[in-house]
Amino acid sequence: MRVIVTGAGGLAGREVVTCFSTAGHEVIPRAHEDLDITNYEALRSLIIESRPDWVINCAAYTNVDACEDHEDFAYSVNGKAPGMMAGICKECDIRLCHISTDYVFDGTKSTPYTEDDKPSPLNTYGKSKLYGETEIERNMDHYLIIRTQWLFGPGGANFVENILNLARQRKIIEVVDDQRGCPTYSKDLASALLTLVEMGAEGIYNVSGSGDATWYKLAKKAIEYAGLDTKAVPVETSRFPRPAARPKNSVLSKDKFKRLTSMELPLWKDSLKDYIQGFLLKAD
Ligand SMILES: NC(=O)c1ccc[n+]([C@@H]2O[C@H](COP(=O)([O-])OP(=O)(O)OC[C@H]3O[C@@H](n4cnc5c(N)ncnc54)[C@H](OP(=O)(O)O)[C@@H]3O)[C@@H](O)[C@H]2O)c1
Repeated sequence: MRVIVTGAGGLAGREVVTCFSTAGHEVIPRAHEDLDITNYEALRSLIIESRPDWVINCAAYTNVDACEDHEDFAYSVNGKAPGMMAGICKECDIRLCHISTDYVFDGTKSTPYTEDDKPSPLNTYGKSKLYGETEIERNMDHYLIIRTQWLFGPGGANFVENILNLARQRKIIEVVDDQRGCPTYSKDLASALLTLVEMGAEGIYNVSGSGDATWYKLAKKAIEYAGLDTKAVPVETSRFPRPAARPKNSVLSKDKFKRLTSMELPLWKDSLKDYIQGFLLKAD
């Protein structure tokens, strides 16, 4: 297969490039500096000239708090651009795989969110991402949308790296313990995405690490695996007021993914250990 990967320099994008290349597919990676996905002409020329089997969109404006102050920009990158991509893919009879987020949900459900639950985003980032989903659905039939959450991995700013940087400087850190989700290793996401694309899956699929956690639990495990003696202290969200509201419970159900692929992503704790001890500590 030939695949274009947009946002190829990001946390997910770089792993998708590696994973598809390792599996023997021809990858055309486009990082932000090579392609601005909001540039219709550039996007269309690339797709028409390369004639890929799939476009995999890993590009997004992911700074959740900054989206509150840059609403037009967020809608342009996360909403309109995926819609344009879908239109071009439909015109050229090419498949599109797009990454979306748990933040399309408001977090009020007490059980895991399924693909059929009604989205109701709390913040501009979530609203712009939901707009992207609906624009794709409006513009093409054969799309694959993968909702993921709480990503960590090499090569991009992420919660785990931020916590470990803080833990190296402080003896005690406070971490939010009343938001729950499923931490997801970018490598695990990429291999699930490869499976779904190779199977020709269509529709919306939730994909995230097995098991769930709060940010506090994730931080505590990260500190332990990094061999640091910093103490993590659980606090409520209200302790750190932020511009964008976050869902309390955005745990995603992976039953649909399991039914189709007979696969489950590794437990987040195992992947976290792999990331910290197999990558981060070696890179230090
Ligand atoms: N990270 C998470 O926890 C998380 C959770 C749920 C869903 N997701 C979704 O997963 C996908 C991948 O996210 P990620 O974590 O890999 O984010 P990331 O590390 O921020 O990567 C996104 C990439 O998109 C690029 N980009 C931004 N605007 C662009 C534009 N106009 N044209 C082309 N490229 C552009 C960014 O480049 P610059 O850095 O130069 O701007 C960056 O390289 C996104 O759809 C995101 O919404 C992420």
